[in-house]
Amino acid sequence: TRPIIIDTDPGQDDAIAILLALASPELDVLGITAVAGNVPLELTEKNVRKICELAGKPETRVFAGASRPLVRKLVTAEYVHGKTGLDGPDLPEPTMPLQEKDGVDFIIETLRERPAGEITLCTLGPLTNIALALIRAPDIAPKIGRIVMMGGGFFEGGNTTPAAEFNIFVDPHAAKTVFTSGIPITMIPLDCTHKALTTRDRVAAMRSHGTRVTTAAAELIDFFERYDEDKYGTDGGPLHDPCVIAWLLRPDLFSGRDCNVEIETGSELTMGMTVVDWWGVTNRSRNAHVIRDLDADGFFCLLTERIATL
Ligand code: BDR
Ligand code: CA
Repeated sequence: TRPIIIDTDPGQDDAIAILLALASPELDVLGITAVAGNVPLELTEKNVRKICELAGKPETRVFAGASRPLVRKLVTAEYVHGKTGLDGPDLPEPTMPLQEKDGVDFIIETLRERPAGEITLCTLGPLTNIALALIRAPDIAPKIGRIVMMGGGFFEGGNTTPAAEFNIFVDPHAAKTVFTSGIPITMIPLDCTHKALTTRDRVAAMRSHGTRVTTAAAELIDFFERYDEDKYGTDGGPLHDPCVIAWLLRPDLFSGRDCNVEIETGSELTMGMTVVDWWGVTNRSRNAHVIRDLDADGFFCLLTERIATL
């Protein structure tokens, strides 16, 4: 099994990513760290616990990390995810504990304990916790096997400003710290996730399993897809964050290439833009594997089949 730490700001799509990870025997979820993003930290950490309980895995260790970005003021997205961040299903208040340890310390200590290259960090929100860990403990960089992240956009543009995707926009300085760290990165931008659409047929297939988890997941999607359907006129919304976990399980469903990626932190107009050298027009170092395409039907089959086992 592959040991992973999930860093997240649930968010309906984060929640479904967590369900997919907890349903997958190939993955060993060492812990889940919450970060402020879609909604403030008090809600994201609670939402993680709600989802672990929904999955029937209350033994999962959940930690709270950073409550605000490194430099900028926190920007949230209740207009997408609702007031709780997890609007849609009626999930009970969690009873499992929040771990006392700080999420950033958990990341640092866990990496130090394990052999170099063993742990994969899966990031589904702003990169604040990862950047803080690298700043506080630079020795952990070579310990991280890979960071697999949902974030950014290039030909597809941004979803928060014309130039920037939400996760990178919220903490561009953290993103810059990560992209200049030399750690192997797989970046899953909007160019890929906008193809992972929750079409009517795909959600109906999920719902047809009729389990507690597939029903709740379909209700999460029903709420979440409304914003993007209205905005983009698509059948369904993009299920961004589960792509990160799916890439670990079935990389053959995705395609991309190694590119240089730089993060804009200077200009207010393009703050948080991911400048991806897709065509290799510079000789800057190829610091990320950038995903552009996925087999969306294959992805939804995998997701539905897995979460139906919970
Ligand atoms: C990202 O922003 C959040 O709203 C989603 O959970 C996803 O991680 C998409 O831009
Ligand atoms: Ca997210």
